Amino acid sequence: MKVKKICCIGAGYVGGPTMSVIAQKCPDITVTIVDINEQRIAAWNDSDLSKLPVYEPGLAGVVAEARGRNLFFSTDVDTAIADADMVFISVNTPTKTYGKGKGMAADLKFIELCARQIAAASKSDKIIVEKSTLPVRTAEALKSILHNTGSGVNFHILSNPEFLAEGTAIEDLHDPDRVLIGGENAEAVQALVDVYASWVPRERILTTNLWSSELSKLTANAFLAQRVSSINAISELCERTGANVDEVARAIGTDSRIGSKFLKASVGFGGSCFQKDILNLVYIARSYGLQEVAHYWEQVITMNDHQKHRFADNIVQTMYNTVSGKKISFLGWAFKKDTNDTRESAAIYVADALLSEEASIVVYDPKVTAEQVYADLDYLGTRTPAENRRLVSVVGDPYDAAERAHAIAVLTEWDEFKTYDWHRIKDHMMKPAFVFDGRKLLSGSKLDELGFQYYAIGE
Ligand code: NAD
Ligand code: UDX
Repeated sequence: MKVKKICCIGAGYVGGPTMSVIAQKCPDITVTIVDINEQRIAAWNDSDLSKLPVYEPGLAGVVAEARGRNLFFSTDVDTAIADADMVFISVNTPTKTYGKGKGMAADLKFIELCARQIAAASKSDKIIVEKSTLPVRTAEALKSILHNTGSGVNFHILSNPEFLAEGTAIEDLHDPDRVLIGGENAEAVQALVDVYASWVPRERILTTNLWSSELSKLTANAFLAQRVSSINAISELCERTGANVDEVARAIGTDSRIGSKFLKASVGFGGSCFQKDILNLVYIARSYGLQEVAHYWEQVITMNDHQKHRFADNIVQTMYNTVSGKKISFLGWAFKKDTNDTRESAAIYVADALLSEEASIVVYDPKVTAEQVYADLDYLGTRTPAENRRLVSVVGDPYDAAERAHAIAVLTEWDEFKTYDWHRIKDHMMKPAFVFDGRKLLSGSKLDELGFQYYAIGE
């Protein structure tokens, strides 16, 4: 079977870039991305490509190439489903905030809504692809909903988790380490293999059973996050012993069995995936009665929370045990560089801790809006929206952020921070001028020379 029309439900950080690349690489397939969020769809359709809702290097070029040719963005979900022979589900699967499994399990209500909508809108046979990250055995629930419609329409379910990282999404999609496809029906699996084979070498397209594919995604994220927590655990020991965590990372990373990637000590990992997916893995293990397995993976989160708190505590302690009334400038709010995404960003939690110590905070991030910064703080519910606006300001110029600041904290590793005139920054700061580098981004020796009091994780 040859796929001619694809529908993707969910025009977010995954659905948008992933489907744009499929459309770019497969000009003979019509790809329609649908979403219930009208504002988001309008932004995807905006003629001004700087207004795309997702900031991702290279994305605007891909959209410019395919949009209007064989790539479309729409809010008409039913029509796109009815027309398609393959439907990707790429909606959000956040941690549950209510009921059983609150704070741990994945909230699957958006997935179930999609399944019901697909069941109702379909008049012809379809392949349904799980693109969202889902708990292992979700395909069973999807099957049950889709196979009981009585409409005579047949559905085959595939699992095709997405491994792209934000900030490098287009690179990752163009040249993936692997594409993973899990399924029971050989013909349906082959149809999706053929889509990817338009640009991905065949040996990098792995096929497995449904459950291995679903579980591999949670496992991959748990392993990656574990590396960050492992090196962050060592960073604290480095600070006490005179060892340097970058040197330790280099020394262990050159062992080919360990490998050099994902060993950068930081203020803690953020992003929409790691915490959510590990919590979900822990919940699944517990639901099967596997307490030790659950406990083992939970430590990755415990260590990450510790690292964020430790960074904030160190700022307070170093600044003579009080930041009350002091101005602290945050360089960066996004959870990593080259994205406008702030979900679970360490900056949010560090800010919250410092605000509780009565600091005032000024934020500069090249791609994050003031509304987003306030929305992130308001969401925590620690203080009222009015208090957040009184204590936190967001500026569009890094030098304004540094004006009369008692300290600068680097929360995101944006490249541009390295290029600033640090001499000028110091002149405008209160003295002693403190810099707390949560990303080990700046040159400590250069800043020391300029007269800053420079502190970096793991040194
Ligand atoms: P997102 O919140 O950016 O996008 C999800 C979109 O789905 C939203 O725009 C929302 O309006 C839409 N939506 C929800 N319910 C809908 C419905 N019933 N009909 C139509 N649209 C609906 O989320 P995301 O970051 O793109 O993540 C999507 C999935 O991909 C999640 O399961 C996530 O775990 C997984 N994932 C994310 C990443 C990442 O880096 N962000 C990477 C790999 C996998
Ligand atoms: C992650 C996975 O990498 C990706 O494969 C999956 O599809 C989605 O989840 P993402 O969350 O977009 O991607 O970014 P990632 O590059 O993994 O970074 C996650 C967090 O870990 C960031 O806050 C990053 O700054 C931090 N990190 C990463 C470190 O602190 N040190 C490192 O060495 C690597």
